[in-house]
Amino acid sequence: MHIEVKNLNKHFGSFHAIKDVNFSITKGHLVGLIGPSGGGKTSILRMLSGLESPTTGDIYFDGKLATHLPVQDRGIGFVFQSYALFKHMTVFDNVAYGLKVLKKPKDFIHDRVTYLLNLMGLAGNERKYPHQLSGGQRQRVAFARALAPEPQLLLLDEPFAAIDAKIRKELRLWLRNLIDEFKVTTLFVTHDQDEAIEVADEIILVQGGKIEQQGSPWEIYTQPASSFVASFIGESNVISQYTPLIGFPYLDEIQQDGKWLQDVNVLIRPESIEVRPHDVSHLATAGEKGKVTHVHFRGDSWYLEIDTGALKLFAYQSVKEKIYQPGDEVNILINHISVFTKTENIVIENQAKQDPLPVFI
Ligand SMILES: Nc1ncnc2c1ncn2[C@@H]1O[C@H](COP(=O)(O)OP(=O)(O)OP(=O)(O)O)[C@@H](O)[C@H]1O
Ligand SMILES: [Mg+2]
Repeated sequence: MHIEVKNLNKHFGSFHAIKDVNFSITKGHLVGLIGPSGGGKTSILRMLSGLESPTTGDIYFDGKLATHLPVQDRGIGFVFQSYALFKHMTVFDNVAYGLKVLKKPKDFIHDRVTYLLNLMGLAGNERKYPHQLSGGQRQRVAFARALAPEPQLLLLDEPFAAIDAKIRKELRLWLRNLIDEFKVTTLFVTHDQDEAIEVADEIILVQGGKIEQQGSPWEIYTQPASSFVASFIGESNVISQYTPLIGFPYLDEIQQDGKWLQDVNVLIRPESIEVRPHDVSHLATAGEKGKVTHVHFRGDSWYLEIDTGALKLFAYQSVKEKIYQPGDEVNILINHISVFTKTENIVIENQAKQDPLPVFI
């Protein structure tokens, strides 16, 4: 189902929780709705579901007005953070519930429930009760129950929040495959930006009741619309008091629309920073000197904290490369920085790096 939301507003008493939100979701896409706590994610989901009415604005399903359609007529499946399974029903009866409400024939229900439980890796658990399952299994039952009546839209509100990190990583890949199999339009609320980057076709980032940016994970990561987006998605060094770095201009040397830049945030992604030993001369001419202050092992990389005097930066180092110790002197080559003004993100390349290297005869 194609979803379109137009000028959506929600007031709770005098509190303006959702402020003129507009977005659309392509049929069959999995969209990640992310943002800080209190941003409005659940409120948007509840308005799409019909559990909450918008104060103003409209919702269209496949081009048809659906703003005030009753919940049961929307063709929606839900999965929430807390396993809202029926405690006194078996796994089979939980999954069969929506089909019984629709008065489907008994044989049909049996076949559909069996098919879904097989797909979820839950065959053999039909007669168990929710308390006899692990958290991951319960959540898979919740997905089977939501998918049983063939919903046109699946709404997921932090479905993996109560599940530990390793199982959660497995479940997110499983979810991606599940959505591909069912081709059901899905809106997936998560706090976890990595989860959204990995599984979503598109991300909608909300903050303070407004959409900050909508785009593919790649677009949002590489072309963030604001310093807030850049620091929310992926990791960044955020520099509010910018003093020029080697290879980069003073801010008052950069003009935008005939005006000198001021009131900006500078961000440096850790992956744009190269760290090398002190005696590598070509980095010395284009880079900063620094001292390693902390080293943390992250399994697939080292996380280095470096003090340049003017700045404290963090950078990654591959596990295959030299292992630094706190106190080591290093050269840091910053390949580019992002300068965020109120309206724009300007990416500036390191000029010193482009200069010809000195030739020694
Ligand atoms: N029924 C309500 N009455 C009054 N205020 C509400 C109500 N529901 C939500 N709010 C407020 O609206 C804002 C958005 O809440 P919402 O639950 O949508 O945020 P969220 O992005 O889902 O947050 P979280 O990540 O913590 O779940 C919050 O400030 C919240 O306190
Ligand atoms: Mg919420």
